[in-house]
Amino acid sequence: MKQLIDKLYKTNNLTPEEYKELIDNRNPELAEYLFTRARTVRVENYGYDVYIRGIIEFTNYCQNDCYYCGIRKSNRGAERYRLTKEQILKCCKVGYDLGFRTFVLQGGEDGYFTDEKIIDLIQAIKTDHPDCALTLSIGEKSYESYKAFFEAGADRYLLRHETANAEHYRKLHPERLSLVSRKECLYNLKDIGYQVGCGFMVGSPYQTTECLVEDLLFIKELNPHMVGIGPFIPHHQTPFAAKKAGTLELILFLLALIRLMLPDVLLPATTALGTIHPQGRELGILAGANVVMPNLSPQNVRDKYLLYDNKICTGDEAADCLSCMKKRMESIGYQVTVSRGDHKSFS
Ligand code: 5AD
Ligand code: FES
Repeated sequence: MKQLIDKLYKTNNLTPEEYKELIDNRNPELAEYLFTRARTVRVENYGYDVYIRGIIEFTNYCQNDCYYCGIRKSNRGAERYRLTKEQILKCCKVGYDLGFRTFVLQGGEDGYFTDEKIIDLIQAIKTDHPDCALTLSIGEKSYESYKAFFEAGADRYLLRHETANAEHYRKLHPERLSLVSRKECLYNLKDIGYQVGCGFMVGSPYQTTECLVEDLLFIKELNPHMVGIGPFIPHHQTPFAAKKAGTLELILFLLALIRLMLPDVLLPATTALGTIHPQGRELGILAGANVVMPNLSPQNVRDKYLLYDNKICTGDEAADCLSCMKKRMESIGYQVTVSRGDHKSFS
């Protein structure tokens, strides 16, 4: 098995059979070996820097009904909110003063926020903070909309593919969403010139090793700038309420594999990872991740943007969250940096 890791380290590539063999036969010793390799590659590319992104969860209205997601349309129990332009700009100001140089506007697919409103937000944020990167995470849109957002100043776009296996995709989403259109969006975003992030949930219901292998192959094919992976965590008011959460162990293993596949990829240790284990994000960094995404949303809405149960950091001020994160990173020998943290090909 170690030879496979060495091969991946040297060539950034394995066959589907080899990925499957590695994942199916993983054990703590093999994982340690993999993490050591992944850290070497990470340090070669990004040193001990950890990039921070301030997430602003600006709307939890969503027209979609993904079976796993706590803000799905059918969840009558979710208390809905939208931030105003002023509130969003205030979050950016607070974030800027704390040292954030990337803002991520994340929300459900909310028809209230027309392209016009999004463009207005992008322009306002970029006018206030011309030295910052702006990332959008607002779901599937037309090529024209993506292009208009890019021209208005958006730099990056996060759209997880969720699973690269079409049958599995069907089991996680209602009929009107498809893997084909998801992938098309991702290729459109790349074509337009965004730094693009895809990603998937680990341990989502009905996921098999074959699904994970397909995820890895799709990531290699898309060659994104960012990859967001985290555990599936059940939300009590969704059809998947009784399903099991993904495990820390498998996520760490996949983070490290992805680091070896795409040596300079921007790879977050996600909030969901911090939710399933008290040191989840630190362990993620030690497995090869190089980004963390503290929450910049106003305190009074944080406990409403609940994609899954037991989400961490819902009670904290942005400043506390950041200083907590700084301490956590320092505790493992890494440091949070004041930087846009662009992908190497863009900086
Ligand atoms: N558990 C973990 N992650 C989730 N997401 C949505 N619902 C859940 C859940 N129950 C993730 C999806 C989405 C991202 C914003 O959050 O992958 O793309
Ligand atoms: Fe938010 Fe620790 S990172 S409180």
